[in-house]
Amino acid sequence: MRNWAAAAVGMPGGRTGLNVPKSIHIGSRLAGTFPAAAPCPNLKKKMRERKLKLLDLFCKAGGAAMGYHRAGFEVVGVDIDPQPRYPFEFHQADALTYPLDGFDVIHASPPCQAYCALKTMRNKREHPELINSTRDKLNNSGKPWIIENVFGSPLVNPIMLCGSHFNCNSGGYYLRRHRYFESNFLLLAASKCSHNHPTVGVYGCKARDIAKEKRHYAKPKETRGKPIGVVLSKEIAFGAMGIDWMNQKELSQAIPPAYSEFIGRQLFQWKMREEN
Ligand SMILES: C[S@@+](CC[C@H](N)C(=O)[O-])C[C@H]1O[C@@H](n2cnc3c(N)ncnc32)[C@H](O)[C@@H]1O
Ligand SMILES: [Zn+2]
Repeated sequence: MRNWAAAAVGMPGGRTGLNVPKSIHIGSRLAGTFPAAAPCPNLKKKMRERKLKLLDLFCKAGGAAMGYHRAGFEVVGVDIDPQPRYPFEFHQADALTYPLDGFDVIHASPPCQAYCALKTMRNKREHPELINSTRDKLNNSGKPWIIENVFGSPLVNPIMLCGSHFNCNSGGYYLRRHRYFESNFLLLAASKCSHNHPTVGVYGCKARDIAKEKRHYAKPKETRGKPIGVVLSKEIAFGAMGIDWMNQKELSQAIPPAYSEFIGRQLFQWKMREEN
Protein backbone atom coordinates (compact mmCIF):
# COMPACT_ATOMS: atom_id res chain seq x y z
CA MET A 1 0.00 0.00 0.00
CA ARG A 2 1.30 3.45 -0.81
CA ASN A 3 2.47 5.40 2.21
CA TRP A 4 0.44 8.55 1.68
CA ALA A 5 1.54 10.07 4.95
CA ALA A 6 5.20 9.90 4.02
CA ALA A 7 4.41 11.22 0.57
CA ALA A 8 2.44 14.17 1.80
CA VAL A 9 4.66 15.25 4.68
CA GLY A 10 7.39 17.54 3.44
CA MET A 11 5.25 18.91 0.65
CA PRO A 12 5.84 22.60 1.15
CA GLY A 13 4.38 23.64 -2.18
CA GLY A 14 0.81 22.83 -1.09
CA ARG A 15 -1.53 22.85 -4.04
CA THR A 16 1.28 23.72 -6.39
CA GLY A 17 3.57 21.01 -4.94
CA LEU A 18 3.67 17.27 -5.58
CA ASN A 19 0.54 15.63 -6.83
CA VAL A 20 -0.41 13.76 -3.64
CA PRO A 21 -3.50 14.13 -1.47
CA LYS A 22 -3.14 16.63 1.34
CA SER A 23 -6.02 15.19 3.25
CA ILE A 24 -7.17 11.67 3.91
CA HIS A 25 -10.50 10.37 5.10
CA ILE A 26 -10.00 7.25 7.18
CA GLY A 27 -12.58 4.53 6.54
CA SER A 28 -15.14 2.86 8.71
CA ARG A 29 -12.83 1.73 11.50
CA LEU A 30 -12.42 5.28 12.71
CA ALA A 31 -15.83 6.58 11.73
CA GLY A 32 -17.83 7.99 14.61
CA THR A 33 -16.63 10.31 17.33
CA PHE A 34 -12.94 11.03 17.82
CA PRO A 35 -12.23 9.29 21.09
CA ALA A 36 -8.99 10.83 22.28
CA ALA A 37 -8.81 14.57 21.69
CA ALA A 38 -6.34 15.04 24.57
CA PRO A 39 -2.65 15.14 23.59
CA CYS A 40 -0.22 12.61 25.08
CA PRO A 41 1.99 13.95 27.93
CA ASN A 42 5.02 14.14 25.67
CA LEU A 43 3.20 16.35 23.17
CA LYS A 44 1.81 18.52 25.98
CA LYS A 45 5.36 19.14 27.21
CA LYS A 46 6.52 20.08 23.70
CA MET A 47 3.56 22.44 23.32
CA ARG A 48 4.50 24.22 26.54
CA GLU A 49 8.11 24.55 25.44
CA ARG A 50 7.48 25.65 21.86
CA LYS A 51 4.67 28.20 21.46
CA LEU A 52 3.69 28.41 17.80
CA LYS A 53 2.15 31.66 16.55
CA LEU A 54 -1.01 31.26 14.47
CA LEU A 55 -2.53 34.00 12.32
CA ASP A 56 -6.34 33.70 12.18
CA LEU A 57 -7.46 35.51 8.99
CA PHE A 58 -11.19 36.42 8.60
CA CYS A 59 -11.47 35.73 12.33
CA LYS A 60 -14.91 37.18 13.27
CA ALA A 61 -15.56 36.51 17.00
CA GLY A 62 -13.07 33.65 17.23
CA GLY A 63 -14.70 30.19 17.07
CA ALA A 64 -11.72 28.79 15.16
CA ALA A 65 -9.32 30.85 17.28
CA MET A 66 -10.49 29.27 20.53
CA GLY A 67 -9.82 25.74 19.27
CA TYR A 68 -6.29 26.64 18.17
CA HIS A 69 -5.69 28.34 21.51
CA ARG A 70 -6.77 25.15 23.28
CA ALA A 71 -4.43 23.16 21.05
CA GLY A 72 -1.56 25.30 22.40
CA PHE A 73 -1.12 28.06 19.78
CA GLU A 74 -0.62 31.76 20.42
CA VAL A 75 -3.40 33.24 18.28
CA VAL A 76 -3.66 36.65 16.55
CA GLY A 77 -6.86 37.53 14.68
CA VAL A 78 -7.53 39.77 11.66
CA ASP A 79 -10.93 40.88 10.38
CA ILE A 80 -12.10 43.74 8.19
CA ASP A 81 -14.76 44.64 10.79
CA PRO A 82 -14.23 45.44 14.46
CA GLN A 83 -14.59 42.31 16.61
CA PRO A 84 -15.14 43.45 20.20
CA ARG A 85 -15.73 39.90 21.43
CA TYR A 86 -12.64 38.31 19.82
CA PRO A 87 -10.89 36.73 22.81
CA PHE A 88 -7.26 37.18 21.68
CA GLU A 89 -5.00 39.84 20.13
CA PHE A 90 -6.96 41.42 17.27
CA HIS A 91 -6.17 43.68 14.27
CA GLN A 92 -8.79 45.29 12.08
CA ALA A 93 -7.43 44.97 8.53
CA ASP A 94 -7.93 43.43 5.10
CA ALA A 95 -6.86 39.78 5.29
CA LEU A 96 -5.67 39.83 1.68
CA THR A 97 -3.04 42.49 2.35
CA TYR A 98 -2.16 41.69 5.97
CA PRO A 99 1.58 40.80 6.34
CA LEU A 100 2.31 37.18 7.24
CA ASP A 101 5.84 37.66 8.66
CA GLY A 102 6.42 36.44 12.18
CA PHE A 103 3.71 33.75 12.09
CA ASP A 104 4.40 29.99 12.10
CA VAL A 105 1.06 28.90 10.64
CA ILE A 106 -2.01 30.51 9.10
CA HIS A 107 -5.71 29.69 9.28
CA ALA A 108 -8.21 31.45 7.00
CA SER A 109 -12.03 31.39 7.01
CA PRO A 110 -13.07 33.54 4.03
CA PRO A 111 -16.79 34.44 3.98
CA CYS A 112 -18.91 31.52 2.78
CA GLN A 113 -21.98 33.47 1.58
CA ALA A 114 -20.85 33.29 -2.05
CA TYR A 115 -20.98 29.47 -1.93
CA CYS A 116 -23.78 28.51 0.47
CA ALA A 117 -27.61 28.56 0.35
CA LEU A 118 -27.69 32.37 0.57
CA LYS A 119 -26.54 32.64 -3.05
CA THR A 120 -29.85 31.17 -4.24
CA MET A 121 -32.13 33.38 -2.11
CA ARG A 122 -34.46 35.80 -3.84
CA ASN A 123 -33.04 38.83 -2.02
CA LYS A 124 -29.46 37.65 -2.48
CA ARG A 125 -26.64 40.19 -2.39
CA GLU A 126 -23.35 40.05 -4.23
CA HIS A 127 -20.72 38.33 -2.08
CA PRO A 128 -17.01 38.32 -2.90
CA GLU A 129 -15.34 34.99 -3.65
CA LEU A 130 -12.10 35.20 -1.71
CA ILE A 131 -10.92 31.57 -1.51
CA ASN A 132 -8.69 31.49 -4.58
CA SER A 133 -6.93 34.77 -3.82
CA THR A 134 -6.49 33.68 -0.19
CA ARG A 135 -4.94 30.36 -1.30
CA ASP A 136 -2.53 32.18 -3.64
CA LYS A 137 -1.42 34.46 -0.83
CA LEU A 138 -0.92 31.56 1.60
CA ASN A 139 0.95 29.43 -0.95
CA ASN A 140 3.32 32.31 -1.62
CA SER A 141 4.15 32.49 2.10
CA GLY A 142 5.71 29.00 2.13
CA LYS A 143 4.12 28.40 5.56
CA PRO A 144 1.67 25.68 6.61
CA TRP A 145 -1.91 26.84 6.18
CA ILE A 146 -5.55 25.79 6.49
CA ILE A 147 -8.53 27.28 4.66
CA GLU A 148 -11.98 26.53 6.08
CA ASN A 149 -15.27 26.79 4.24
CA VAL A 150 -18.63 25.19 3.39
CA PHE A 151 -19.90 22.59 0.97
CA GLY A 152 -19.99 24.06 -2.54
CA SER A 153 -16.89 26.19 -2.06
CA PRO A 154 -13.87 25.73 -4.36
CA LEU A 155 -11.66 24.00 -1.76
CA VAL A 156 -9.25 21.36 -3.10
CA ASN A 157 -9.21 17.89 -1.43
CA PRO A 158 -10.67 19.14 1.85
CA ILE A 159 -11.54 17.01 4.86
CA MET A 160 -15.02 17.39 6.35
CA LEU A 161 -15.68 17.75 10.06
CA CYS A 162 -19.10 17.56 11.70
CA GLY A 163 -20.46 18.02 15.23
CA SER A 164 -21.18 14.30 15.33
CA HIS A 165 -17.44 13.56 15.10
CA PHE A 166 -16.96 15.36 18.41
CA ASN A 167 -20.21 14.51 20.17
CA CYS A 168 -21.22 18.20 20.21
CA ASN A 169 -24.66 18.22 21.86
CA SER A 170 -26.94 20.17 24.15
CA GLY A 171 -30.47 19.59 25.50
CA GLY A 172 -30.77 16.24 23.70
CA TYR A 173 -29.84 17.77 20.30
CA TYR A 174 -26.68 16.84 18.39
CA LEU A 175 -24.96 19.40 16.21
CA ARG A 176 -25.05 18.89 12.46
CA ARG A 177 -22.53 21.34 11.02
CA HIS A 178 -20.39 20.28 8.08
CA ARG A 179 -17.28 22.36 7.58
CA TYR A 180 -14.49 21.70 5.08
CA PHE A 181 -10.76 22.21 5.63
CA GLU A 182 -8.12 22.38 2.92
CA SER A 183 -4.47 22.39 3.96
CA ASN A 184 -0.98 22.20 2.49
CA PHE A 185 0.02 19.54 5.07
CA LEU A 186 -1.46 16.13 5.78
CA LEU A 187 -4.78 16.17 7.66
CA LEU A 188 -6.65 13.06 8.82
CA ALA A 189 -10.37 12.78 9.51
CA ALA A 190 -13.07 10.17 9.85
CA SER A 191 -15.05 9.78 6.65
CA LYS A 192 -18.53 9.29 8.04
CA CYS A 193 -20.69 11.29 10.35
CA SER A 194 -23.86 9.96 11.90
CA HIS A 195 -27.12 11.73 12.67
CA ASN A 196 -29.26 9.16 14.45
CA HIS A 197 -30.29 11.56 17.22
CA PRO A 198 -32.37 14.75 17.02
CA THR A 199 -30.10 17.24 15.25
CA VAL A 200 -29.66 20.96 15.68
CA GLY A 201 -28.37 23.27 12.95
CA VAL A 202 -27.13 26.79 13.78
CA TYR A 203 -27.75 29.22 10.92
CA GLY A 204 -29.59 32.46 10.19
CA CYS A 205 -28.83 33.54 13.79
CA LYS A 206 -30.99 30.72 15.19
CA ALA A 207 -30.76 27.13 16.41
CA ARG A 208 -33.10 24.92 14.37
CA ASP A 209 -34.48 21.40 14.73
CA ILE A 210 -33.32 20.18 11.32
CA ALA A 211 -35.79 17.30 10.93
CA LYS A 212 -38.79 19.47 11.86
CA GLU A 213 -37.64 22.23 9.53
CA LYS A 214 -37.29 19.78 6.63
CA ARG A 215 -40.78 18.36 7.29
CA HIS A 216 -42.21 21.88 7.45
CA TYR A 217 -40.73 23.02 4.13
CA ALA A 218 -41.70 19.74 2.45
CA LYS A 219 -45.39 20.72 2.82
CA PRO A 220 -47.07 22.69 0.00
CA LYS A 221 -46.69 26.44 0.59
CA GLU A 222 -50.45 27.05 0.99
CA THR A 223 -50.76 24.51 3.81
CA ARG A 224 -47.55 25.25 5.64
CA GLY A 225 -48.68 27.75 8.27
CA LYS A 226 -46.18 28.75 10.95
CA PRO A 227 -43.21 26.48 11.58
CA ILE A 228 -43.92 25.06 15.04
CA GLY A 229 -41.10 23.84 17.22
CA VAL A 230 -38.47 24.47 14.54
CA VAL A 231 -36.58 27.23 16.34
CA LEU A 232 -34.81 25.95 19.44
CA SER A 233 -33.52 27.86 22.43
CA LYS A 234 -30.32 29.85 22.17
CA GLU A 235 -28.94 27.80 25.09
CA ILE A 236 -29.08 24.74 22.82
CA ALA A 237 -27.24 26.66 20.07
CA PHE A 238 -24.45 27.90 22.33
CA GLY A 239 -24.20 24.57 24.18
CA ALA A 240 -23.96 22.44 21.05
CA MET A 241 -21.36 24.76 19.46
CA GLY A 242 -19.29 24.85 22.67
CA ILE A 243 -19.19 28.68 22.59
CA ASP A 244 -20.32 31.17 25.25
CA TRP A 245 -18.63 34.50 24.43
CA MET A 246 -20.37 35.55 21.17
CA ASN A 247 -23.73 36.93 20.16
CA GLN A 248 -26.06 34.78 18.05
CA LYS A 249 -25.12 36.44 14.77
CA GLU A 250 -21.46 35.70 15.36
CA LEU A 251 -22.30 32.19 16.54
CA SER A 252 -24.09 31.34 13.31
CA GLN A 253 -20.88 32.06 11.35
CA ALA A 254 -18.46 30.35 13.73
CA ILE A 255 -16.86 26.96 13.59
CA PRO A 256 -17.05 24.96 16.81
CA PRO A 257 -13.72 25.20 18.66
CA ALA A 258 -13.65 21.36 18.81
CA TYR A 259 -12.94 21.29 15.04
CA SER A 260 -9.95 23.65 15.09
CA GLU A 261 -8.59 22.07 18.29
CA PHE A 262 -8.58 18.73 16.46
CA ILE A 263 -6.80 20.29 13.46
CA GLY A 264 -4.46 22.29 15.69
CA ARG A 265 -3.19 19.13 17.39
CA GLN A 266 -2.38 17.54 14.03
CA LEU A 267 -0.78 20.75 12.83
CA PHE A 268 1.39 20.97 15.93
CA GLN A 269 2.64 17.40 15.51
CA TRP A 270 3.30 17.98 11.82
CA LYS A 271 5.28 21.15 12.62
CA MET A 272 7.34 19.30 15.25
CA ARG A 273 8.21 16.58 12.73
CA GLU A 274 9.18 19.22 10.17
CA GLU A 275 11.47 21.01 12.62
CA ASN A 276 13.26 17.84 13.80
C1 LIG B 1 -17.22 33.09 8.32
S1 LIG B 1 -16.67 34.49 9.23
C2 LIG B 1 -15.33 33.74 10.13
C3 LIG B 1 -15.76 32.91 11.32
C4 LIG B 1 -14.62 32.49 12.23
N1 LIG B 1 -13.66 31.63 11.57
C5 LIG B 1 -15.13 31.76 13.46
O1 LIG B 1 -14.91 30.54 13.58
O2 LIG B 1 -15.75 32.41 14.32
C6 LIG B 1 -15.90 35.45 7.96
C7 LIG B 1 -15.35 36.83 8.40
O3 LIG B 1 -14.60 37.36 7.31
C8 LIG B 1 -14.61 38.77 7.45
N2 LIG B 1 -14.11 39.38 6.20
C9 LIG B 1 -14.73 39.50 5.01
N3 LIG B 1 -13.90 40.05 4.10
C10 LIG B 1 -12.71 40.28 4.74
C11 LIG B 1 -11.45 40.80 4.33
N4 LIG B 1 -11.22 41.21 3.08
N5 LIG B 1 -10.46 40.87 5.25
C12 LIG B 1 -10.66 40.46 6.52
N6 LIG B 1 -11.84 39.95 6.96
C13 LIG B 1 -12.85 39.86 6.09
C14 LIG B 1 -16.04 39.09 7.81
O4 LIG B 1 -16.10 40.35 8.45
C15 LIG B 1 -16.36 37.89 8.75
O5 LIG B 1 -16.19 38.30 10.07
ZN1 LIG C 1 -22.67 15.33 9.89
